[in-house]
Amino acid sequence: MSSPAAFASSPLSVTSPRRIPKSRFTYKQLHQLKSYSTTTPLRAIAHVDLDAFYAQCETVRLGIDPTKPLAVQQWQGLIAINYPARAFGLNRHITSAEALKLCPDLIMQHVATWKEGDEKWAYHEDAFTHIATHKVSLDPYRMESRKILKCIKEALPEKEQRVEKASIDEVFMDLSAQVHTILLERYPELQGPPPYDDPTEYLPKPPTTVLDWKADALVGTGTEDGEERDPDWDDVCLVIASEIVRDVRAKVKEVLGYTCSGGVARNKMLAKLGSGHKKPNQQTVIRNRAVQHFLGEMKFTKIRMLGGKLGDEAVSMFGTDTVKELLNQPLEQLKRLGDDTGSWLYSTIRGEDNSEVNPRTQIKSMLSAKSFRPAINSFEQGVRWLRIFAADIFSRCVEEGVLENKRRPRTVNLHHRQGAQTRSRQSPIPQGKPLSEAMLFDMAKNLLAQVVVDGRAWPCANLSLSVGGFEDGVQNNKGIGGFLVRGEEAKAMNNGEKDRMPSGEPSTKRRKGEKGNIANFFGARDEKRRDFDAARAALKAHRESTKDDSEGDETGEVRSEVDSEVGNESPADTGRQDYSSEELYNDDTPPSAQKPSETDGFDPPPQKPPKIHQKPIETFFCPRCNAHLPSTEKGEHDDFHYAMDLSKEIRQEEKKPTPTNAGRETPVPQKSSRKRGRPPGSGKDARKGQAKLMFGRSG
Ligand code: CTP
Ligand code: CA
Ligand code: CA
Repeated sequence: MSSPAAFASSPLSVTSPRRIPKSRFTYKQLHQLKSYSTTTPLRAIAHVDLDAFYAQCETVRLGIDPTKPLAVQQWQGLIAINYPARAFGLNRHITSAEALKLCPDLIMQHVATWKEGDEKWAYHEDAFTHIATHKVSLDPYRMESRKILKCIKEALPEKEQRVEKASIDEVFMDLSAQVHTILLERYPELQGPPPYDDPTEYLPKPPTTVLDWKADALVGTGTEDGEERDPDWDDVCLVIASEIVRDVRAKVKEVLGYTCSGGVARNKMLAKLGSGHKKPNQQTVIRNRAVQHFLGEMKFTKIRMLGGKLGDEAVSMFGTDTVKELLNQPLEQLKRLGDDTGSWLYSTIRGEDNSEVNPRTQIKSMLSAKSFRPAINSFEQGVRWLRIFAADIFSRCVEEGVLENKRRPRTVNLHHRQGAQTRSRQSPIPQGKPLSEAMLFDMAKNLLAQVVVDGRAWPCANLSLSVGGFEDGVQNNKGIGGFLVRGEEAKAMNNGEKDRMPSGEPSTKRRKGEKGNIANFFGARDEKRRDFDAARAALKAHRESTKDDSEGDETGEVRSEVDSEVGNESPADTGRQDYSSEELYNDDTPPSAQKPSETDGFDPPPQKPPKIHQKPIETFFCPRCNAHLPSTEKGEHDDFHYAMDLSKEIRQEEKKPTPTNAGRETPVPQKSSRKRGRPPGSGKDARKGQAKLMFGRSG
């Protein structure tokens, strides 16, 4: 610990006649290292973060001298800037044109893109002029990321490694077990059993008085004599950990050519702060004795989880952003942020973090998205992008071991944004057969067709496809369990996604308005009817194809596609619990508009619902609706009934019991019942005006 008092009171052995000074640490704490205990104070955790990662990927790929200034461009912005370029004052918030003014010799490399209709991403020279028809691909960086992870693992002993991938360019390592082994080799006096076989006995003091920290940046203790005095086993453990990290970094440089920075400390929170402390190509050790001093100097908003809303809330509640001042707040005060949050914050600013390094792969979902400027206006256009999304996601699934059934996603989601509203459609992925790109594409197309048939799909500003619910080792054709959507999952799919307007308007109201959208859909009549027919044909084709599949499939599969819509939610929001570090920045928005915490290219929805116009007019009588409607909308209204009838027909066919879905609960298709809402123009209420507005936009 950093407290000098702890050293002054080093326990003395009562039995020893010469009163040999002892360590502050026990045999038990030493041996807990072997099992990666999260509570032993001797724990050794490291964090490694690649320097200017995407920029280095490009210098390495292109064989460019790493001392030359280079930036990675995305459309007109910069997403990564190497250290030589940073010397010219370049940062992520400036445009490529501004960057060139500051640094005329700057090498700018645009990220790889998928060109609409292409089978694979590529580096296109003029990509920055094609924001409308290209989509950013981070695949090259993901591939390098995987190589780096592999290299790091290979630099560590197979049996004593615990590595967690924390993002595309970061890993945590729990080095405790390896440090334990090295410690016992180097200091054989630690090998013996504890006196009296009592594990709570204190260890002897380390024989060394001077530790060799090499070139590591050592965080100071803030006291003059605290630096070198009385090294104890926690210091020795961190010296050894630091040696390991130095070797790992050297290996990455030697094998792959990348430089990275490292942090070494007793937990993840501190190790991460350490790796960012001195960059590039350096490592920082935060010894236990330096923790309080190191944190005290810091703004707590720099700590993991305190960078966003929570940090802001704490700043305004306590009127400070420094750890030092927040330390004066008693626990009860911090609990004003909530009991758990308060307790967490209380220990965090004291340098405590018992979270474990989790070696399981972190990917639980994958997202492929595109923001459209200008917006897209047809099913066919949407489908062209879905082809890219499916290829993108499938290739990433392959890397995740989906073909070998090591891991497999359970659901596919489509998010569609039109105006202020985001709609989502989700469908379970049949588990009884190998996942293929064609299967993903077909499901995606079907989900989009559902959105289109339900109306008001265009103009679409943003479209994304994601797969989620990744599970380990689902076996191929092994029992019915693998084919069913589990209870919890089904529940989530039925309840989780509510139909909401951006204002938070409840779903029933929206449902009413929706019919207007279907009629509205036939605004520019022929064109839209063609679009609708295309969507309808896709739905039918999908139904046919899945029917064939299930017929040849003894165990069957769940084919009930959940019809749900969400407003006010972007895929980033819905995917948040399924955190996948690989999705960070997989984004097509101009980088200057991005924040690191945002995972998609969605603009925030407007705070208010669309404006409503009213226009009293002449009416005609529709016997099917039993209502008087504006004469000017007769054609549109007839189209509405046409659309509704088709939609109903399709849905009824889909819901016909088959040997595989009979008896299972499926969401009730939306009926065109008069009671539940009236078609557009059937009253002077808000719904009509809303439809009008949307119509105006799409036409
Ligand atoms: N990134 C991005 N958009 C952001 C933040 C990060 O696209 N708003 C990308 C960067 O291109 C970067 C990678 O994610 O290369 C890793 O981010 P980070 O570690 O934060 O920055 P680096 O560029 O690696 O720079 P540093 O040396 O400071 O780590
Ligand atoms: Ca980095
Ligand atoms: Ca990083």
